[in-house]
Amino acid sequence: MTAQIIDGNAVSRQLRAEVAQRTAALKARGTTPGLAVILVGEDPASQVYVGKKVQACEEAGLHSVLEKYDASLTEAALLARVEALNADPSIHGILVQLPLPRHIDAQKVIETIAPSKDVDGFHVASAGALMTGLPGFWSCTPYGCIKLLESIGYDLKGKHAVVIGRSNNVGKPMALMLLQKNATVTVCHSATADLKAMTLQADVIVAAVGRRNTLTADMVKPGAVVIDVGMNRNEQGKLCGDVDFAAVKEVAGWITPVPGGVGPMTVTMLLVNTLESAEREARAKA
Ligand code: GUN
Repeated sequence: MTAQIIDGNAVSRQLRAEVAQRTAALKARGTTPGLAVILVGEDPASQVYVGKKVQACEEAGLHSVLEKYDASLTEAALLARVEALNADPSIHGILVQLPLPRHIDAQKVIETIAPSKDVDGFHVASAGALMTGLPGFWSCTPYGCIKLLESIGYDLKGKHAVVIGRSNNVGKPMALMLLQKNATVTVCHSATADLKAMTLQADVIVAAVGRRNTLTADMVKPGAVVIDVGMNRNEQGKLCGDVDFAAVKEVAGWITPVPGGVGPMTVTMLLVNTLESAEREARAKA
């Protein structure tokens, strides 16, 4: 059996078109969704990522502001900028690109962002809202994985989902989102005794480790859905995920490629969260 490909570019295009439509409708009612992106320092990968975020805003009709600062910016100055953006009514989402220079306490910066504008979903209040099922912003990458599962009409209720990885940004929120969707969830990590025994039981596997070939074909139940969050490079410098794609696609029922799977969904969900923040604010004012 050859798996069907879950095309993250196509799902992204569809969702971004919906964001553009809702944005136009909100603008017609007098509110333009606004995202502020802060980049500190010259990390080349971060420069590419923030460029993509700002461009995606423009294409969907959202207002965006990119603030670039020298790596020598003090923590106090960054906190003051975040506080000013918290108070700025034209801004509905604030994203401080990570990693930050070592002299800045990233957690402190994230906790300074107003939870109502935390479109990255990294604030402890956002994490707590996800854990308790209260309204709040879901972090973009795992939320994007949920949308990919929705795009194939997959009902998670009663399914066994295995998440490989327990990071604060992907693994842990992913497990909570799958739980919220009524899956039975197992979280595996570097100290898991027998990873293969776990993944072989899975109807859905989300691989979010950051290591090539973490999931091989012998670890996958025939017909399972495989979501690959990994972003690695092979010996030839080619982008690849955590899954041995060529072999696993012969066993799985559905699989996301790298690139073109989860990757484009992260920026897409940032647009969705920013739009929802603006819609919430407009509703509260009405
Ligand atoms: N650095 C890499 N990915 C991300 C992200 O999704 N959000 C932020 N703020 N920084 C990042």
